Amino acid sequence: MKDPMTAHLLILLLVGLTSSIPTDICRLFPDKTIIADPSSCNQYITCNNSVSQYTACPTSTPYFDNSTMKCAKTLSNLSHCTLSCSEHVNQFISDKTSCNGYYFCKNETTLLHGKCPNNLHFNSETQSCIYQSQSNCEINSFDICSVVKADTKIANENDCGKYFICDKKKGLTAKDCADGKFYNSTSGSEVEKWKVNCRKIPLPKEVCGTTKNPKRNKYVSDKSTCRGYFYCADKGSKIPDPAPVWGQCENGTFFDDQKQSCEDPLKTKCPKNADRCDGRSLAFVSGSRSGCRQYLRCKNGKAVEQKSCGNYFFDEFSAVCVSTPITYGFCLA
Ligand SMILES: *[C@@H]1O[C@H](CO)[C@@H](O)[C@H](O)[C@H]1NC(C)=O
Ligand SMILES: *[C@@H]1O[C@H](CO)[C@@H](O)[C@H](O)[C@H]1NC(C)=O
Ligand SMILES: *[C@@H]1O[C@H](CO)[C@@H](O)[C@H](O)[C@H]1NC(C)=O
Ligand SMILES: *[C@@H]1O[C@H](CO)[C@@H](O)[C@H](O)[C@H]1NC(C)=O
Ligand SMILES: *[C@@H]1O[C@H](CO)[C@@H](O)[C@H](O)[C@H]1NC(C)=O
Ligand SMILES: *[C@@H]1O[C@H](CO)[C@@H](O)[C@H](O)[C@H]1NC(C)=O
Repeated sequence: MKDPMTAHLLILLLVGLTSSIPTDICRLFPDKTIIADPSSCNQYITCNNSVSQYTACPTSTPYFDNSTMKCAKTLSNLSHCTLSCSEHVNQFISDKTSCNGYYFCKNETTLLHGKCPNNLHFNSETQSCIYQSQSNCEINSFDICSVVKADTKIANENDCGKYFICDKKKGLTAKDCADGKFYNSTSGSEVEKWKVNCRKIPLPKEVCGTTKNPKRNKYVSDKSTCRGYFYCADKGSKIPDPAPVWGQCENGTFFDDQKQSCEDPLKTKCPKNADRCDGRSLAFVSGSRSGCRQYLRCKNGKAVEQKSCGNYFFDEFSAVCVSTPITYGFCLA
């Protein structure tokens, strides 16, 4: 494909912009989800581990029908296919699913998908990739449930403890994970908190108390991680801090609600299903479950596996299962 953007891109690349805000629509959907391409009626997207893969419908059935989620001979209503290549042959058009993506219209029915490098945004007016700061691109301007089949789950990027589901009748519907669980956008399931790489720690309910009894000038557990806390500033006798600031204890220590300080992990309980490998340099640490018989394998300060010592106890100092009872403060029954 002849790419008129190359010249622009070279210039911009020399500036060395780096930014890593993901823009691929598949980051929101479980692996293997099929999505009707909101930009084109002639192809669909398959999610492969959070990455979009585009497939064109064959010439015998050139249209992708979002009611059957299959390629079809024709569509009953072509009105939503207005953003097509018919008037843009040999030009670039926007990708409605991603500010970073674009299509090159080879001819009226053949689109080639591409992406701006370094998360630059595509701009159809200038037919080039521009800085995010100069872009007014907004994605998700379409009904996201109209491009997937009913009951598809969608990640909530503002809260790991929530997700959405496309309900047949109600449309996009918010869901809460069960207590101690987070939503994993790749598997599309609720799993124990330690199994999710949470980028946005949810604000717990009434984190800074109530108007009757606000927490003033206090640190409180973030209820998601072992090291994390929120600082509730003193806003007055009847005003809980509406926007507490999140912080973390230093590596090798956990936050203790009662002591209002960062403490020895072996003496500190974590929130339910939180990752006890958090910020620790050990390869194996004692797990949360009461009885002190379980342990976690850690890598780069994150749990990768949970195991049990059976009837034995896990000794964190020697990193082995032992028969003599272990009684760390946090895992006593
Ligand atoms: C998914 O992506 C991986 C890595 O890029 C690739 O090796 C694999 O073949 C892809 N799977 C499918 C079904 O296309
Ligand atoms: C086709 O879809 C458009 C917009 O989605 C709608 O306004 C129009 O009434 C539909 N036409 C038919 C015949 O269903
Ligand atoms: C568009 O391009 C594709 C791929 O090169 C080709 O197979 C197809 O026949 C072309 N269609 C038209 C209408 O020219
Ligand atoms: C298919 O897409 C159109 C246009 O975006 C939308 O109006 C319609 O509701 C969708 N159909 C289904 C079954 O989602
Ligand atoms: C979801 O789980 C998979 C496999 O357990 C893991 O590789 C991936 O990082 C998880 N995704 C998130 C967002 O935590
Ligand atoms: C804390 O530990 C993590 C993982 O072991 C490491 O990547 C990070 O740089 C450490 N942070 C500090 C401040 O030492």
